[in-house]
Amino acid sequence: MQIIGQKTLPKEVSQAVIFIKKGKKPKADLGGLNTAIESAMEHGLFSGEEGEIIPLTADGRAVVLVGCGDKPGGWTMRKVGAALKKALQTKPLTPKRPALIVPWRDDETWALGCVYGASLGLYKWDRYLTPKEDAPLPRDWRLTVLSKRGAAIEREALICDGVNFARDLGNENADVADADFFEKTIRKLVGDDPRCRVEVLNEAELREQGMNLHLAVNQGSAKPPKLIIASYRGGKKKAPCTAFVGKGMTFDSGGLNLKPSGGIEDMRFDMCGAAAVAGALKNTLALGPACNALFVCVMAENAIGPRACKPGDVVRGYCGKTVEIGNTDAEGRLVLADANSYIAKNYKPESIINIATLTGAVLIALGLDHAGLMSTHDDLAESLMKSAETSDDRVWRLPMYEELRDHVKSDVADIKNIGLPKLAGTLAGAEFLRQFAQHDNEKQAWAHLDVAGTAMPNREVGYFSPGAAGAGVRLFTHFLLNRAKK
Ligand code: BES
Ligand code: MN
Ligand code: ZN
Repeated sequence: MQIIGQKTLPKEVSQAVIFIKKGKKPKADLGGLNTAIESAMEHGLFSGEEGEIIPLTADGRAVVLVGCGDKPGGWTMRKVGAALKKALQTKPLTPKRPALIVPWRDDETWALGCVYGASLGLYKWDRYLTPKEDAPLPRDWRLTVLSKRGAAIEREALICDGVNFARDLGNENADVADADFFEKTIRKLVGDDPRCRVEVLNEAELREQGMNLHLAVNQGSAKPPKLIIASYRGGKKKAPCTAFVGKGMTFDSGGLNLKPSGGIEDMRFDMCGAAAVAGALKNTLALGPACNALFVCVMAENAIGPRACKPGDVVRGYCGKTVEIGNTDAEGRLVLADANSYIAKNYKPESIINIATLTGAVLIALGLDHAGLMSTHDDLAESLMKSAETSDDRVWRLPMYEELRDHVKSDVADIKNIGLPKLAGTLAGAEFLRQFAQHDNEKQAWAHLDVAGTAMPNREVGYFSPGAAGAGVRLFTHFLLNRAKK
């Protein structure tokens, strides 16, 4: 898909989507099409009411009118994007011809909303659909947004390619997108780019390092685990570095605490944290922000079998702490715990940011629109919230506090991987991760995004169709672009 922004009308417009305020005429002069639009309005066929979408044609050209009501200022990026997605899917518009988009306002909300609606809205996971001959594909769209924000539009379209890249990883079969596949994908992304180095710890190296929590989770699997670390140096050599550490559970059966039908089917998406990290790396390499960052994919498979780790077992992690495995289905925090303490100790990043489809409880708390954000560092949390807001990659902050320590106390080990029954499951998961990120240094800046709701919605959300949504990619990319300005 190609999306550009330009201030002037293209010479020829064969099809268009026009947002129109209630009772107003279109903002662009499209000749004969405008006559048709005005006639439709005069005859009461279109009034500009919010939610109204109608197609019109004149002299072989097509236009879809989208009503904005009389408060276009109240339109969020999500609303703009969802409306544009719907309009572009309205016949007779076709990806076979270039299309013009005329937003109601020329501001950041409308410009980015249009990019999200088009690029993310028209994304379709079609790798396993047998192609129909001659059917136009969403990726064939060539779109021009009438806007003076061309640079922002084109940059955001590129960022969305990174989001869709992460979605492809998420949607892919669990047995295809495994740890090896991730390693190949990351190595291919980086190529021989001199700004970036890739290190991979394989199973033997994880064992040598004592990353037994990571190993325990993968123990029942026929596939090897991996810790993939891509270090990007866009800033000065000694400049601070942000570490993004993503959960890459290529399949989460629950382990011996096996997940039931109705819960297990979506667990190929349990690597969406690592996929978001990969998407952010892709964008970082493309945009080259002047800052340093680590992109860490923590890869394992939580399988069931005679070798699988047993509920109740106690395992010693990389940092020396012992963990009571109260439930083998709370596996994400185990692999991330080892990665957090390994990264904190060996790389000394300025901040560690976890991203994980960590708890079902975050769906109960926040639904599908916001990721849960937890952090003990207000500055870091605020930067993340700001990047989330400007990129419609929404988060909502949840509290972290002293008393959560008690939730993950164990009688037989230093800590337990589950919290108190039915209480604040999302916070207990975060508290567990925090204790490993800050094991050596209580002041280590740390944040965690629980994207179990946002990364893999099972229904339509705004401009997203069900399936992997690439949650976190836009947020992380904007975070680094802002970080580079400091
Ligand atoms: N990957 C799941 C979390 C999840 C659930 C993601 C539903 C997306 C949709 C995670 O590994 C998990 O199983 N968490 C358990 C933790 C519990 C055993 C403490 C959960 O949320 O039930
Ligand atoms: Mn699980
Ligand atoms: Zn999981």
